[in-house]
Amino acid sequence: MQVYGLIGNPVGHSLSPPMHEAGYEALDIDAKYVTFEPPAHEGAAAVAAAERLGVAGLNVTIPFKQDVLDAVETDPLAERIGAVNTIDLSGDEPRGYNTDAVGAVRALDHHDVSLDGTAVVVGAGGAGRAVAFGLADEGMTVEIANRTASKADDLAAAVPGASGHGLDALADLLSDADVLVNCTSVGMDEDETPVPAATLHEDLAVLDAVYSPIETRLLRDADEAGATTVDGAWMLLFQGVEAFERWTGESAPVDAMNEALRAGL
Ligand code: ATR
Repeated sequence: MQVYGLIGNPVGHSLSPPMHEAGYEALDIDAKYVTFEPPAHEGAAAVAAAERLGVAGLNVTIPFKQDVLDAVETDPLAERIGAVNTIDLSGDEPRGYNTDAVGAVRALDHHDVSLDGTAVVVGAGGAGRAVAFGLADEGMTVEIANRTASKADDLAAAVPGASGHGLDALADLLSDADVLVNCTSVGMDEDETPVPAATLHEDLAVLDAVYSPIETRLLRDADEAGATTVDGAWMLLFQGVEAFERWTGESAPVDAMNEALRAGL
């Protein structure tokens, strides 16, 4: 039996175990997915311990995504993002990847959103970084808007072709944009949005990285404006799907994993 898992602190409410285990069941793979909660700053030690114990793969969440960088051979995209959320322990060396970036790309692609033109990424924290690099790698022009504009500028300097802005630029930026991704925590457990409703329009596809609640105020506003909407569970799903495929070498049973994830939300 293979063991996969998640390291984070806290990991109590993670939806990854049911999502991954639904995938193993659908493909008849003999595997378990378990959560581990090492103390802060023990991420690298936890990776080494998991490797010794024969764990085949790890997901990594807050606060360990940067912590484990030194413990793994990092793939180029994860290196540029500066964060690892998926580790393959099946080879001679632990290999680190960032499937958050690809998760956003695949969530949009799954909804037939074409990934050319301009994307506005709101937020310049960990999620914003991953999404900005992911969309730029797809060839999109990325505009980053953040409450603290200097952080948007710093991130934009690292992302090919990107520019940084404050939130006051949103109306201008969105009038010409094709894709909008909310990567701030605004809307999580509160009925607020970082994007004024009047700036949304029907030619936009809107992805909200917030998945609790599943229908955020931003997505309701986007729907009312006639935009295509993609909820945060799709992004969570596809980061998991991408990890599943790296570990097992199989095409993931997306529907089964999606159903298990949404049942837990
Ligand atoms: P994550 O790893 O989930 O991206 P983070 O690194 O803490 O979390 O980043 C949170 C993001 O949400 C930041 O872009 C933050 O903006 P600042 O850089 O200005 O702090 C943004 N954010 C959080 N609360 C916000 C609010 N009330 N209004 C606008 N942006 C907010």
